[in-house]
Amino acid sequence: METLLIIGAGAAGSVTAKKAAMNRDVFKTIHLASRRISSCEAVAKQCATPVHTHQVDADYTEAVIDLINNTKPDLVINMALPYQDLTIMDACVATGVHYMDTANYEPREEAKFSYKWQWPYDPKFADKGILGILGCGFDPGVSNIFCAYAQEHLFDVIHTIDIVDCNDGSHGKSFATNFNPEINLREVTQAGKYWKNGQWIEIDALSINCMVDYPEVGERKSYLIYHEEEESLVKNIKGLKQIRFWMTFSDNYIKHLDVLQSVGMTRIDPVMYKGHPVIPIEFLKELLPPPSSLGAGYTGRTSIGCIFDGLKDGKPKRVFIYNVCDHAQCYQEVQAQAVSYTTGVPPVVGAMMLFKGEWGGNGVKNVEQFPSKPFLEELARQGLPWHVKELAANEQDDLFAVKT
Ligand SMILES: NC(=O)c1ccc[n+]([C@@H]2O[C@H](COP(=O)([O-])OP(=O)(O)OC[C@H]3O[C@@H](n4cnc5c(N)ncnc54)[C@H](OP(=O)(O)O)[C@@H]3O)[C@@H](O)[C@H]2O)c1
Repeated sequence: METLLIIGAGAAGSVTAKKAAMNRDVFKTIHLASRRISSCEAVAKQCATPVHTHQVDADYTEAVIDLINNTKPDLVINMALPYQDLTIMDACVATGVHYMDTANYEPREEAKFSYKWQWPYDPKFADKGILGILGCGFDPGVSNIFCAYAQEHLFDVIHTIDIVDCNDGSHGKSFATNFNPEINLREVTQAGKYWKNGQWIEIDALSINCMVDYPEVGERKSYLIYHEEEESLVKNIKGLKQIRFWMTFSDNYIKHLDVLQSVGMTRIDPVMYKGHPVIPIEFLKELLPPPSSLGAGYTGRTSIGCIFDGLKDGKPKRVFIYNVCDHAQCYQEVQAQAVSYTTGVPPVVGAMMLFKGEWGGNGVKNVEQFPSKPFLEELARQGLPWHVKELAANEQDDLFAVKT
């Protein structure tokens, strides 16, 4: 395996292309395709080594099949939007090519992301002898692999997992989202949800918060939201009793979100305006800064990880596995901010695992189903070092005290 096709030349896709282009020992040929050829050409100019560029509208399976037939990749990575997951998976099945993404499918007309559309592709992928690797960004992605590592190497049984995600950066804009605005706002405006003792428990959006102590950042208010990796982790982490996901939002972000929501600007259904149907959230996306424009001058860090509570050798144990990523350093390396960097680098590492034979098999799988150690070793080499910290009994007490 030596040929890679990346679809989506946005904020995160540009990082994937640039990082792949720094690893020519593994990726002999790299193709980058996107809805606008200009997006690909702008990225290709900044790549350290040559990358082939193509135009494709990945909403159409036939268009992706033509692209695959022309480029003959071993793996297609969807770095565009979750809306394109299924059309690209269909094209991979039709052509017998491995597939990877960083976010699970959600239909445009319903803001409910779930694996229920992608997992049923398992027999089709298995019949073709190809792999569909789901959710290989940071969270989902590295967060799942931290869980696999904890299960394999640190615990006999994990009872609770809290995935904690802090962006303590400052981009200087009054309001912007760190990845695609439409997908981001759909995610944070939907009801919160967590899993306990075999049940999903739904809560009002952003109605539970607590202080989490983030490495190299400090204590930050964090909100309980639903995140897609919980759906696969409850199946793949044995003996689990509870999983929750927490994310920081600044008061400024919450204030803007409240206003936008209350006036209907985050609606995903069409509204008639001067005789034309307009979807408010799609229009809003056009007004907000693209995430790829936020990198220059972005300061601060992301601090993201998983906090585990469980047993080892019959004794209680708490561990925090995390990564800290600096916005300005990412910009210096690949002209992108840390959220794009932490999303765009893990798929390169996942592709390396596949190309080098560390990850294999067939069918559709989530990343925690593959060996965690070789991935995490390579992740650190590719710019995302990670750390394991054993927690004392009084650490993260606010988080552990939240009764859910
Ligand atoms: N797992 C994680 O940790 C994680 C974190 C953040 C984001 N994500 C995922 O990453 C996605 C991308 O985020 P981003 O910040 O890179 O967003 P972005 O900057 O808006 O990039 C999305 C790109 O998708 C391309 N695109 C859209 N529709 C397309 C189509 N029909 N055919 C081909 N290309 C199409 C666009 O291409 P053009 O520029 O050519 O128009 C755009 O550049 C998010 O939506 C989310 O699903 C995952």
